[in-house]
Amino acid sequence: MSVPESVRQAQQRAELRGFGMSCEDPVGPLLAVLAAAVPPGGRVLELGTGAGTGTAWLATGLAGRDDATLTTVELDPGLAAAVRESDWPAWVEILEGDAAALLPSLGHFALIFADAVAGKWTGLDLTLDALAPGGVLIVDDMDLSRYTEPEHREAVQRVEDTLATDPRLHTVRLPAGTGLTVATRRR
Ligand SMILES: C[S@@+](CC[C@H](N)C(=O)[O-])C[C@H]1O[C@@H](n2cnc3c(N)ncnc32)[C@H](O)[C@@H]1O
Repeated sequence: MSVPESVRQAQQRAELRGFGMSCEDPVGPLLAVLAAAVPPGGRVLELGTGAGTGTAWLATGLAGRDDATLTTVELDPGLAAAVRESDWPAWVEILEGDAAALLPSLGHFALIFADAVAGKWTGLDLTLDALAPGGVLIVDDMDLSRYTEPEHREAVQRVEDTLATDPRLHTVRLPAGTGLTVATRRR
């Protein structure tokens, strides 16, 4: 998939701000692929907007839809404000706040990209509760070999174990990029 203009803009924003945590291939195009598959009326959630690269890929997958929405949550007010300055479709909502605090009130989603500390490394249960039946959860940075600190390795292992054993989920590990895990909530 070629890189959409909105993604290029987000990558430039990341570079200008010295933000080095944007999603990389193949996560970005995969986000677009999964977003394009959400059912009519489907809601998409990103935890951790960053500079908006994942947001732009997700919005690319939803392009041309007027029946789906994309909500993204960012703790850093400066990042949230900078991403808001771009020209997003009306169905993109950029929330500033702590994902852990907001998650219980956001409702259910057909696709969640959990890419912040909260809702992933901590409070994963809140994210799983927000996943609609048939909904898909994607997490990256799951390759254990990337981590040396014991607490980081424990967090990755904990998330991997939860996603592999939660009876509500079908889960697959994909050895791509920084390590992907994708889970679907059973209907
Ligand atoms: C890995 S980056 C996100 C990258 C982005 N999803 C992308 O695909 O380019 C993680 C982001 O999560 C944000 N963050 C950290 N803790 C958070 C929290 N508790 N709630 C919401 N966002 C948080 C950070 O400020 C950072 O921008």
